[in-house]
Amino acid sequence: MRAGGSDLVTMTAAPQRLVHDAEGLNTAVWPVPPEHFITPADRFFTRSHGPVPPVDPAAWRVEVTGLVRRPGAYSLAELARAFPSRQVTATLVCAGMRRAEYLSLGPLPGELPWGPEAAGTAEWSGTALRDLLDAVGVEDGARHVELVGLDSVERQGKRFGFGGSIDLAKAMSGEVLLARELNGLPLPAEHGFPLRAVVPGWIGARSVKWLGRITLSPIPSENYFQARAYRVQRQVDPRDPRDVSAGVALGQVPLNAVILEPLPDQVVAAGLVRMRGWAMGSGGAPVTGVEVSADGEGRWCRARIEVAGREWTWTFWEAEVLLQPGRHVVAARATDSAGAVQPATVRQTWNVKGYGNNAWHRVAVRAE
Ligand code: MTE
Repeated sequence: MRAGGSDLVTMTAAPQRLVHDAEGLNTAVWPVPPEHFITPADRFFTRSHGPVPPVDPAAWRVEVTGLVRRPGAYSLAELARAFPSRQVTATLVCAGMRRAEYLSLGPLPGELPWGPEAAGTAEWSGTALRDLLDAVGVEDGARHVELVGLDSVERQGKRFGFGGSIDLAKAMSGEVLLARELNGLPLPAEHGFPLRAVVPGWIGARSVKWLGRITLSPIPSENYFQARAYRVQRQVDPRDPRDVSAGVALGQVPLNAVILEPLPDQVVAAGLVRMRGWAMGSGGAPVTGVEVSADGEGRWCRARIEVAGREWTWTFWEAEVLLQPGRHVVAARATDSAGAVQPATVRQTWNVKGYGNNAWHRVAVRAE
């Protein structure tokens, strides 16, 4: 195993869009090629709990309500006129990314079996949530900012818009955007046209699409997708095995490292085999190192950083491992400047709905 070499065996795999549900609302292109540090819009993953809502851009307004001095409603043109245009490059990571690895421990009924494909990086632009909140005036007592979409999702016999909240400190941090554009063009319908939240460093679920309402409140959102889902609960409630309302609401995405090459069960030529992937620190902390192992856990060597990430993005890394003929499990893990390390096994990160898997990423391959 070494971090460079001439007799390197390179592998290419044509990216394809994986579809995880019958309606085609939950899809992702895999694997990410090395040139796609920024994910093209037509390759970005889609994760939607219901169909894209019909929106008439001329009539559409985002409403700002709750504990604010000057409640109001803004059209796209008013947002663009009243506030400076801000840009943030951010990687969106779905909380369910790498859930499929938990299936080795048992079924997760009702949950989409995402692999590592549910992540992508874009240049987002629009209005900083902070600028809008400064303009409407946050009242004393406001602690949380609820974001609710115009989609219509059914859960527990009720229909409502997907939503969730972020704490006021994050909302005022400057990096949270009300994005009108993805990679310099208006948001595609499936990514939230006309306006979506982008909450860098937090689970994708808080980046609410098709934004309809922003409400300041003393308490976290009571929307199903904050109060009853996207929570880490490690013990099954025997009365309702799928209920996680007693768990802890997810916020920041944890440090993670993902292997993009080789692919699971790939047959590679024995010799020096290229490993390639991405890593991202938690809470905007830079990745300080990525290590790879040719035997899944024993000996580790440092990978090269190929494209260093920005504050809220993934970092691309590469390495070579020497594989003799036979079956191997290669692995990757990262560290970040906040001192975070990844747990070794999925048993350590398992939870009832299978969120936030950041165990060392392992991929089984055969060398011949
Ligand atoms: N916003 C609305 N209104 N409805 C949704 O179903 N899904 C969330 C979030 N915002 C969702 C939403 C989840 S779980 C994720 S991971 C991201 O959107 C995915 O964003 P994308 O589809 O643009 O990749």
